[in-house]
Amino acid sequence: MVLGKTKIYRGLDLNKLPNHVAIIMDGNGRWATKRGLPRKFGHKAGCENIKRITRNLFDLKIKIVTYFAFSTENWKRPKEEIDTIFDLIRDYVKTNLDDFVKKDVKINFVGNYTKLPKDIVAQFEQAKERTKNCKSFLVNFAVNYGGRDEILRAVNKAKNIEGEITSKQFESLLDTKDISDPDFIIRTSGEMRVSNFMLYQMAYSEFYFTNTYWPSFSNRDLQKALLSYQKRNRRFGNIK
Ligand code: FPP
Repeated sequence: MVLGKTKIYRGLDLNKLPNHVAIIMDGNGRWATKRGLPRKFGHKAGCENIKRITRNLFDLKIKIVTYFAFSTENWKRPKEEIDTIFDLIRDYVKTNLDDFVKKDVKINFVGNYTKLPKDIVAQFEQAKERTKNCKSFLVNFAVNYGGRDEILRAVNKAKNIEGEITSKQFESLLDTKDISDPDFIIRTSGEMRVSNFMLYQMAYSEFYFTNTYWPSFSNRDLQKALLSYQKRNRRFGNIK
């Protein structure tokens, strides 16, 4: 069993949790370097942490989690590192798919993932197809994803629509077409930037930055982040 085993922390108001949590998982490389290890061990540990945090979010009955796994800019990295990340993604999907189907968890991918190695594209399509009717929880991976790239691809699709396009129509052309905007975006490792992530969708997201490197970001850290979220007053442009 992969999901459904964590403790739900005291102190959290279970009626005031975000619907969609998105995570910019940063600091894998520095986590490894600090331990005298090659960077790929940081990605491996980061992948283990995806499993841990996903379990916790599932148990908390949060509806959607998005992980920023590979950006349109990450192609600049050495091939060996890119291959490590892709191998981890392949392995994650392969080993978790049956459990996801069993637990009614949908898996989805956003980004221009059709540009990835063919076997990954096929694997993603199969995973999406097998979980398309699952409704309890959505695990969404941003792979070869960039907010600007997503917006540009949507604009190009919109050229075929006659007349003035509505925001609803435009949103239906984004990769996130069936996914609500992230309520809460967490970025680990102390960097305070958005790095081309969900530029359109983050209009009213709440942000949380922590110095902790992603592989060390624990369930306790998640609890702290969620407690911070619960103290926010989201006004969406209104006065209260
Ligand atoms: C950022 O840390 C992390 C990434 C670019 C890759 C994230 C990928 C994984 C956690 C593994 C993928 C597995 C799945 C299942 C999606 P960094 O390398 O930029 O760290 P640094 O800033 O310390 O160098």
